[in-house]
Amino acid sequence: DTVESVIVAIDGPSGTGKSSTSKAVASALGLSYLDTGAQYRAITWWMLSNGIDTADPLAIASAAGKPVIESGTDPAAPAITVDGVDASGPIRTQEVTSKVSAVSAVPEVREVITGLQRSIAAAAARGIVVEGRDIGTTVLPDADLKIFLTASPEARAARRSGEIKGSDVAATRAALVARDAADSGRKTSPLAKADDAVEVDTTELTLQQVVERVVALVEERRDAL
Ligand code: DC
Repeated sequence: DTVESVIVAIDGPSGTGKSSTSKAVASALGLSYLDTGAQYRAITWWMLSNGIDTADPLAIASAAGKPVIESGTDPAAPAITVDGVDASGPIRTQEVTSKVSAVSAVPEVREVITGLQRSIAAAAARGIVVEGRDIGTTVLPDADLKIFLTASPEARAARRSGEIKGSDVAATRAALVARDAADSGRKTSPLAKADDAVEVDTTELTLQQVVERVVALVEERRDAL
C-alpha cells in the first residue's frame, strides 16, 4: 500500500507538552519533525549576539533577513544552527526566553521564519509534525491534521519548572503566563486555535496518553487520505 505524506500541525501555549508530544508522534510514525519555537529562539539569540536592541522593532525588522537559520528534522536529534554554528544550547537560556516574544512579534521576522517553515514542510517526503503557535492558522492552513494542546496554568508551570533546575514554580508560572499573553495578543499571527483543530487538554493526561491519542488521530486521518 502507498503511504501518503501527512502534515500534522501541533499548536498551543508553552508547557502543554508540545515538544515532547510532537517528537514522540513523529518518531512513532516515521515522520520528520520541526520545532518552530526553536527557530524564533535562534533568530532572537542572533539579535542578542549581534547587539540588536530587542526593544526596537525597526532594528529587528531590518536585521531579520541576515542570519542563516537551518533546522534538522530528525525527531530523535533535533538540530538547529545559526550561520553554521550549533545553537541548541544558547537558544534555551533565560535571556533568550525573555526576549523571544518581542522578536517573534515583528512581521518581518515572521515572514522570514514562515518561509523557512513552509519549504521544510514541502520537502518532507513522508510527512512532518510541525509544532508552534500559528502552524494550523497561518503557516500550514491546509495541514491534514491540526491539534491544539492546552493545560491548566498550574500544570504548565509545574512541568516547566521541572525542566529548569532550581526554578521556582510561582516565578515560572508568572513568566509563562506573561509570554502566552504576549504571544496571544500580538497583531501578526498570534497564538490561536484553528477552527478545524482538535483540542486536547493535557492537564490530567500523561505524555504517553497524549501521544497515543494524537497517533490514533493521525492514523485515522492518513487512512482517509
Ligand atoms: O515553543 P517555544 O517556547 O520554544 O517558543 C518560543 C517563542 O517563539 C514563543 O514564546 C513564541 C514564539 N513562537 C511563535 O511566535 N510562533 C511559533 N510558531 C512558535 C513560537
